Amino acid sequence: MQEKILILDFGSQYTQLIARRIRELSVYCEIHPYNHYPPPDGNTRGVILSGSPASVRDKDAPAPNLERLKGRIPLLGICYGAQYLVHRYGGEVLPSGTREYGRANLQFVNSGDPLFRNLTRGTQVWMSHGDTIVRWPDNYEIIGSTADVRAGAYHIKGEDTWGIQFHPEVYHTTEGKQILENFVSTVCGCKRDWTPASFAESTVAGLKEQLGSDKVILGLSGGVDSSVAAMLLNRAIGDNLTCIFVDNGLLRKNEYAKVLESYRKMGLNVIGVDASEKFLLALEGVADPESKRKIIGRIFIEVFDEEAHKVKDVRWLAQGTIYPDVIESVSVKGPSATIKSHHNVGGLPEKMHLKVIEPLRLLFKDEVRRVGDALGLPGIILNRHPFPGPGLAIRLLGPVSREKLEILREADDIFIEGLKRHDLYDKVWQAGVILLPVQSVGVMGDERTYEFTAVLRSVNSTDGMTADWSPLPHEFLAVVSNEIINRVRGINRVVYDISSKPPATIEWE
Ligand code: XMP
Repeated sequence: MQEKILILDFGSQYTQLIARRIRELSVYCEIHPYNHYPPPDGNTRGVILSGSPASVRDKDAPAPNLERLKGRIPLLGICYGAQYLVHRYGGEVLPSGTREYGRANLQFVNSGDPLFRNLTRGTQVWMSHGDTIVRWPDNYEIIGSTADVRAGAYHIKGEDTWGIQFHPEVYHTTEGKQILENFVSTVCGCKRDWTPASFAESTVAGLKEQLGSDKVILGLSGGVDSSVAAMLLNRAIGDNLTCIFVDNGLLRKNEYAKVLESYRKMGLNVIGVDASEKFLLALEGVADPESKRKIIGRIFIEVFDEEAHKVKDVRWLAQGTIYPDVIESVSVKGPSATIKSHHNVGGLPEKMHLKVIEPLRLLFKDEVRRVGDALGLPGIILNRHPFPGPGLAIRLLGPVSREKLEILREADDIFIEGLKRHDLYDKVWQAGVILLPVQSVGVMGDERTYEFTAVLRSVNSTDGMTADWSPLPHEFLAVVSNEIINRVRGINRVVYDISSKPPATIEWE
């Protein structure tokens, strides 16, 4: 079975980052709330206690009983985790004189300690805490100190327990990865054999066993997540998986046909449903963004439900849910062990009395891509920019009309194809055109025009949570602008959006 590291979440903003780093070391790990975690089993090689916005001195601070972990299994406390291991076992944690935040250097490093093997004296670390350890039990041996923090890191003698006050998971801790590698390799003895290919192999085997000869349906969106989920299921159960790909009339130019063809080439049992008339009829004249989203969601469920009922004896609905949707960081004010249920096709499983299966629920977004790559997902799907479910309807501000959708679709196609031609498509995270309901004066030949404005939007990001506008070359913007104004009737002005997120968002509505 798969070896793993358990991460107990005390609510730090960095908890997911710890998991990312451990996974990058080819070790599988799971995040669980500190007050609700599975007992370590024979495959659990070690446990990490995360940071927290709380102080160990708070009355209602997270204070789990660690008896079944401490001294029994390798344990690494980070920030709050390190302070808690001191506070709980007879030491003292007090507010720092000055808030210890930002870069610091380890003046003292015991590189003879297994956790700090290969660490350089003076190495830069990232501190982020308001409390500091001022007194520690006798059996705590200090293995790292900064100029201000004597107990920067410690090891508890006679057991495999360590605490570090800084954050090894953040990029600013220059040798943080080395520390985590020392923990998982040297201390925990992990084999480090968790790779996209091994994930795919074990997931396919697991799905085979779980599903037997059951039938499964899955809604494909053209995006990476649902496509990779489909590939895994296809490998496991072949044609017992039926995929449904709906054309809502709001996709990019030629997208439906191109993507459907790729799905078929991949050997998927896929039903293409052209429901664009239904969507467009319901959306005609609708201007409010939330109403647009609600209508699109409702009709999608209707269409999907109708198609799914044509497949006999279906027992399961598969979804492309990924790990960030599954883990809910614990809130320190009101710790909760509830797992968010994220339904990409909200309400469907209940309505259809189906059990839900989510083959990607343990993966981060970039891991999904790597699994897709390992499975041979074609580039057209693997490298596609994210595209919102409500599609062009929310990139057309104001009332939806077929005519405006057509104008937007043409302009968007010129921009996207231009990015590809100029070798820029893979260098930006997401791009598209937004059509504004703003008309302005122009001249074309001898005539005055009074037409719409198109916005080019292109952002660089890693997860869509924050984003910067892409610094696209001026020459490229000039070519695209010319082409749009010359070729798309209805647009006489093109502008470039130079807003970052936050405070702006990627989409305009
Ligand atoms: P924002 O505009 O919030 O977008 O900065 C962040 C990411 O989410 C996508 N997005 C959506 N995706 N349904 C979706 O499936 C939606 O209603 C929706 N709204 C925004 C957006 O394209 C970007 O990738």
